[in-house]
Amino acid sequence: MGAQVLDNESCHQSSFYPTSKMNRKPGWKAGATFLMVTFCFGTLWYLPVEIYLPRSYVDVRDLCSPGDVASKAAVLISNYSRNHPVFLQLSDYFWVEKHSLYELPYGTKGSELLLKFLALAGHYHVPNQIERLQCRRCVVVGNGHRLKNSSLGNIINKYDVVIRLNNAPVHKYEKDVGSKTSMRFFYPESADFDPDLDNNPNTLMVLIPFKSMDIKWMKIILNNEKRVRKGFWKMPPIIWDVEPQNTRILNPYYMEVTVTKILGSEMKPPEKVKVRPTTGMLAITFALHFCDVVHIAGFGYPASDNEKQPIHYYEKVTLKSMAVTEHNITMEALAIKKLLQHRVIQNLTYF
Ligand SMILES: *[C@@H]1O[C@H](CO)[C@@H](O)[C@H](O)[C@H]1NC(C)=O
Ligand SMILES: *[C@@H]1O[C@H](CO)[C@@H](O)[C@H](O)[C@H]1NC(C)=O
Repeated sequence: MGAQVLDNESCHQSSFYPTSKMNRKPGWKAGATFLMVTFCFGTLWYLPVEIYLPRSYVDVRDLCSPGDVASKAAVLISNYSRNHPVFLQLSDYFWVEKHSLYELPYGTKGSELLLKFLALAGHYHVPNQIERLQCRRCVVVGNGHRLKNSSLGNIINKYDVVIRLNNAPVHKYEKDVGSKTSMRFFYPESADFDPDLDNNPNTLMVLIPFKSMDIKWMKIILNNEKRVRKGFWKMPPIIWDVEPQNTRILNPYYMEVTVTKILGSEMKPPEKVKVRPTTGMLAITFALHFCDVVHIAGFGYPASDNEKQPIHYYEKVTLKSMAVTEHNITMEALAIKKLLQHRVIQNLTYF
């Protein structure tokens, strides 16, 4: 844990919430915190996982209060609801009371292709080992450069649900980012060309459908149909070795909520909406509707005047290269700060 200082709100919380450097308590308070943490929590994080996982699992689970994120999120997000299917399924098209108002990526309106695809593929369930948990502790691992040398790998691996983004590598970065991946959110242009290398055999590959070509790409790959090269802003993989039962399509509802509720953009008229949240922002919104504990790590970009600083932990790309994208990272940073301030989510790195 090194530089991480734990929070001293209560015995209960301090054990599971490493907080940011900005929250570091000075002097005797830090000392008292350390003693209390050691007393309450023993040395669980420090001992070999193989020996202590069963015990720490039980202990850590006690620290997860079911409904914690839900009650806090409901204060900030109007009409907050956890009753929406997580992944798209065919039956949603026939039984939902109110059909989607929006087309992709904010809704399913008018997507014939999606209907066809779901009729054929039809994988939508949440894996049993996650579904049966009474309390879901999730960590959303961003791709930020601040994960470099963080040594957070062992901590990240202890969450029930580890969500990763796009083509972020794990292989050779395990010490800092961990090796467990429960779900990976991506779109064709951000898909990993070697999905085996950076995922586990049971990792769910969760497609964010931005446009109808994205669903077509998945359909073509899974059914081994003739490849299509047009319609993407960057060439996606043509060979992509993933088991069909490990693929899912994220319900566009979370995109709508991200844009309207988290980033506060107007959706009227729908065809004018131009906001494209980052995969990370979307994953946080999803976690707010799916988990009982939401921690994040590796979020945040370098200061805008820092043109030389890489933005990712695994490559040298700088902020300059982001300028052309449709993401509004300033708005997203404010949204994440607000969630952190209200303690809906907590951060394992600094922000
Ligand atoms: C909340 O839901 C109600 C009823 O569906 C709707 O009238 C209202 O506009 C919604 N509010 C927001 C902020 O989405
Ligand atoms: C990470 O550690 C390596 C080796 O100690 C060092 O060379 C590098 O500068 C560090 N990078 C960061 C971002 O701290």
